[in-house]
This record gives sequence, C-alpha cells and structure tokens, in this order.
Amino acid sequence: MKTIVCIGAGYVGGPTMAVIAKHCPEYRVEVVDVNAARIAAWQTDSLPIYEPGLLDVVKAVRGRNLFFYDDVEDRIDRADIIFVSVNTPTKGFGEGAGQAADLQYWERTARQIARCSTKAKIVVEKSTLPVRTAEALEAILHASENDVAFEVVSNPEFLAEGTAIRDLEEPDRVLIGARATPSGQAALEEIVKIYAHWVPRENIITTDVWSSELAKLTANAFLAQRISSVNAISALCERTGANVAHVSRAVGMDRRIGPKFLRAGVGFGGSCFRKDILNLAYLCEYHGLPEVAAYWRQVVELNEFQKRRFVRSMLGAMFNTLAGKRIAVFGFAFKPGTSDTRDSPAMAICELLIEEHAQLVVTDPRALDNAREDLKDAPDCAFTPDPYEAARGADAIALITGWPEYRELDYERIFRQMAKPAFLFDGWNELDHEALARIGFHVYRVGAPPLEPPPEST
Ligand code: NAD
Ligand code: UDX
Repeated sequence: MKTIVCIGAGYVGGPTMAVIAKHCPEYRVEVVDVNAARIAAWQTDSLPIYEPGLLDVVKAVRGRNLFFYDDVEDRIDRADIIFVSVNTPTKGFGEGAGQAADLQYWERTARQIARCSTKAKIVVEKSTLPVRTAEALEAILHASENDVAFEVVSNPEFLAEGTAIRDLEEPDRVLIGARATPSGQAALEEIVKIYAHWVPRENIITTDVWSSELAKLTANAFLAQRISSVNAISALCERTGANVAHVSRAVGMDRRIGPKFLRAGVGFGGSCFRKDILNLAYLCEYHGLPEVAAYWRQVVELNEFQKRRFVRSMLGAMFNTLAGKRIAVFGFAFKPGTSDTRDSPAMAICELLIEEHAQLVVTDPRALDNAREDLKDAPDCAFTPDPYEAARGADAIALITGWPEYRELDYERIFRQMAKPAFLFDGWNELDHEALARIGFHVYRVGAPPLEPPPEST
C-alpha cells in the first residue's frame, strides 16, 4: 500500500484528499497540518470548512484510508508521495509587499520535507505558486543531507469553493507538469495513475513544470478578467439606462465567448483571484514586462472600483449621508455556498460603510462566525442569523452575497418593519426587483437603472 501525505488541511488539502481516498482505496492518505484545532475538527462531524457534500465523502473514507494528523514531521517520511497544499497568501511586508506571494509557509514545508526524508519521494505542488517555484523547491530538497531522490511535480488545483466536491469528482481537466527527464516522466505517470481512477484519461493533461505553474495563475486571471470586464460595462449601463444582465446574456450566447463568469455584481472575492493576479503582475514586473503587469493589475483595480461604486450608489441614493443609519447587510461570505469570508467584497463594503458612520447589522446563513471575527474591531456592528431581525428598523438592505434563501424571504413583512423610505441595494441582482418596487422599496441594482416604488406605496 502506497502512502500519500498531504501537508495542509485547508480548503484544498481536505476535500482533494478525501476524494482521492474515496477513489483510490489501495492508497493510504494522510492529511497533516500544524493547526491542531483544524486537524481535530477534521476528525469530527463539524468539519473545519463548509463545503456541500464534503462530510459524506469524509465519513465514507475516514478511518478506512483517510487519516488526519498534527504531527507533521513524524508523518513526512512515511510518504511515497507528498502533496503540498499550504497557504501562499499575498506578502504583507518587505520587497513585493501587497503583490508577491508570501512563500514562507511553502519554504518551511520544503525544508521540513528535506530534513525528515530518508527514502525517495515525489513532491507534488498543489498550492498555487509563482512560475518557477519548483526550481527553488528542487534546490532545497537536493541540498538535503540525507541523499534522498526527490522528484517535483506540479499539479495545481482548479476547484472552486462551494462546488469543490463536484469539481473534484468531474474536473474539466487535471493538469500535471513534470521534468522531461526519465525520472520526471516516471513521477508524472505515478500522479496520472492516481487521477485515472476516476478522471477520463483525455481530461488528464500533462506538460512541463513551468507551463503547469503558469497555467494555474493564468486560468484565475482569465476568470477574474471576465468579471472585471462585465463589471466595467455595468458602470456604463447605469449611466446609459442599459441593463447589464441583458448585455451579458447577448454577449455570452456567442459560442466563442460563452455564458459563464459574466455576472455583474459587487466584485469578485475569495482567497485566490486577487492574490493570484497580483502575483502574476508582480512576476511580469520582475521579468521586465511592466506593460503586461499593468494590464493584469487593472483587473484588480476595476474590482476595487466596483466595490467603491456600490457604496457610492448607496450614499447617493440615501441623500448623501449614511451617518447613524441602520443598514442590514445580507450575506458576508465571498460567494454563496461557502462559509469562507477571505477577501469577501462584504468586508470592503462594510469598511466603507463604517467610514460613513453607518450602523451595520450583518446576517449570513453560513459565514456569521467568520464575519464576527473579521469585524471584531469595527464599531457599531451587530450580527444575527435571522434576516428579518437584521432588517427590523433598518433604513436599507445591502444584499452582498446572493444566497438563494434571500429570494424566498417575505419582503412585504420586511418592508413593514423597516424605516421609510426603505432602500434595497441588490449587489447580486438576485431578487425580483419589480416585485420589490411594487411593495414600496426603492430598488438599486448593479448595471441597471434604479426602480422606484409606485407613488401610492411611498
Ligand atoms: P488554507 O489556508 O485553507 O489551508 C492551508 C493549510 O496549510 C492551513 O491549515 C495551514 O495551517 C497549513 N500549513 C501552513 N504551513 C504549514 C506547515 N509548514 N506544515 C503543515 N501545515 C501547514 O488554504 P487553501 O485555501 O487550502 O489554499 C491552499 C493553496 O491552494 C493555496 O496556494 C491556494 O492558492 C491554492 N488554491 C486554493 C483554492 C481555494 O479555493 N481555496 C483553489 C485552488 C488553489
Ligand atoms: C476560483 C476559481 O474559480 C477556481 O477555479 C480556483 O481554483 C480558485 O479560485 P473560488 O474563488 O472558490 O474559485 O470561486 P469562484 O466561483 O471562482 O468565484 C470567485 C468570485 O467571483 C466570487 O466572489 C464570486 O461571487 C465572483 N463571481 C463569479 C462574480 O462576481 N461573477 C461571476 O460571474 C462569477
């Protein structure tokens, strides 16, 4: 029985290893992490992350061939294959601060592997990394005093949160990059063999290490670029009376463009897009390509503009003052279907609202604990799981995360309990705007003109 050890039990490591363990019963899969509390949670039914369908997969394989441990160094040498899935956030200090990837966790892991290994291993880059990181990894591993053969393979992860299990079960593609040497190609085949248990062979694509590393950054940059493109057009729609939903539909029906990732909103969030594009831009700059860097950076700048624009439209609609006004924030997760709030547009929007001295009441079906933590130093913030409670007495609702349950609420009841005039700013264009205006709301949408209530209801 071969042993896979995955270092990093987060949003990627946990679900990915659970699905590998499910489909590959002849492998022993161990997930390790320095965060002992996280490992303890993986051993219960209250998993450390919310991901639809994840608990079922974990329960089916935990204790069979999937195990969680916090003694990282003791586990390393048992592995034939090590997946490294540690976090690679944006660097917050020194050279490249605010742009480059912070590789300290990555390098620490590489050194641990070098120090603790006494037998040959394949080391798989699962984290998203700057192109040519494998070179640094190889240098660290080969400097090991233990005279061990290591082969480095790149296998970036493309799952999206909220749909991680589906994305892992039926990936559009699995990408594996390795050196062209015989040992590199043998390692590549070992990793192909794992995925071939459930992924059709034609969906497993192989390449060199650098192309694999760069393809991951590029995929995220392209996805985010589509969102910034449509958000840019949403601003023009609001000025011209066009409706961005109709524009997106017409544009996306061109088969060369396609309909996905053309939804205008409050801007993209999540732990990946911003970080990976900034990292891509930094790499371009580093390699003497400032024009290319500026091109990609603009995708992030437009995203910041979109969040500011949302708050400005609230301010403009509500008589240019939000001071002391109660605003119900519907949704804090960075998108529906997850409890993750990392780089959520909600955080940036709440900060801007707080600067305006608004009083916030935040509600979210899954992300309230994270919201509390993120806003723990903010003044005038309350939290409730109940959207009716959040909206009671509020001057406005700001819908930031398009949870489907927000469509099902009784907006007549909500309207009755709000201060008047009652404003609703739908950052996801999620609700039935005509119906809301008929109830009496002043409805503001992204990328379409506002809807006023009929005169008799005001
Ligand atoms: P995460 O923060 O949820 O998990 C990373 C884990 O690594 C943490 O639990 C941390 O404690 C652990 N860790 C850090 N250093 C360690 C060490 N030396 N030894 C043991 N454990 C250590 O991060 P994530 O969201 O799972 O992302 C991991 C990587 O995957 C990142 O590079 C990210 O860019 C990439 N990625 C993320 C997603 C996503 O949707 N979240 C999708 C694709 C790729
Ligand atoms: C993303 C990539 O999709 C995934 O392939 C990669 O592995 C990790 O980064 P994730 O961040 O989990 O996944 O979610 P995603 O569904 O891509 O959404 C990212 C952000 O874009 C969210 O804030 C979402 O609300 C926003 N978005 C998405 C839009 O604003 N409009 C859209 O049309 C689609």
